[in-house]
Amino acid sequence: MNNKLGITDSAELARTEERISKKRAVELFESGRLDELEAGMYAALAEIHRTLFGEIYDFAGKIRDDNLAKGNFRFASAMYLKTALEHIDSMPQSTYDEIIEKYVEMNIAHPFREGNGRSTRIWLDLILKKELRQVVDWSKVDKNDYMLAMERSPIKDVEIKHLLKDALTSEVNDREIYMKGIDASYHYEGCQVFKAEDL
Ligand SMILES: Nc1ncnc2c1ncn2[C@@H]1O[C@H](COP(=O)(O)OP(=O)(O)OP(=O)(O)O)[C@@H](O)[C@H]1O
Ligand SMILES: [Mg+2]
Repeated sequence: MNNKLGITDSAELARTEERISKKRAVELFESGRLDELEAGMYAALAEIHRTLFGEIYDFAGKIRDDNLAKGNFRFASAMYLKTALEHIDSMPQSTYDEIIEKYVEMNIAHPFREGNGRSTRIWLDLILKKELRQVVDWSKVDKNDYMLAMERSPIKDVEIKHLLKDALTSEVNDREIYMKGIDASYHYEGCQVFKAEDL
């Protein structure tokens, strides 16, 4: 993938991306800047993404203009992405179910070319923290179960609601718990890119 660092080897890029994004994620947490973001808004997600990936990719924090798919699922069409994000901003977030429904919609939007999973899990925790004084303890979430539940989520959200509910914790200021959400073992590759004319 094209990157600002001029890295051509994909394994090296993956290692460097992981190292830098984790460092930036720690800083975002420790500086208190994360807590200043407006929970539940796209602007907050864009800022998280820009912070984690800004040194590595030109597209950090920017809405993609390619169409994306994973498995058999096509994420929101680039053409309607802005409208979809405005709609997500307006979605309610006062109950656990509403928050997960909002998270599922943001995953369907998949606004960035890469790094949606990591930045959106941080965004989810920010909403849960603000609204419910809880966060997900990602170390309690089986990665395989999570992936299956996310794949299923555009059709039915019961699995992801159930899975994450069991992992909620009141330890909202624990850095280790927060960092687990962007752990390497959550990374799944194999995203297809479509050009607009393919659709
Ligand atoms: N088939 C699918 N249908 C819907 N959502 C999916 C599917 N496969 C993966 N996802 C979601 O997309 C996320 C991955 O998106 P992306 O590759 O942009 O993010 P990442 O940060 O690089 O990866 P990861 O979330 O694995 O760390 C997963 O975490 C999951 O939430
Ligand atoms: Mg990825």
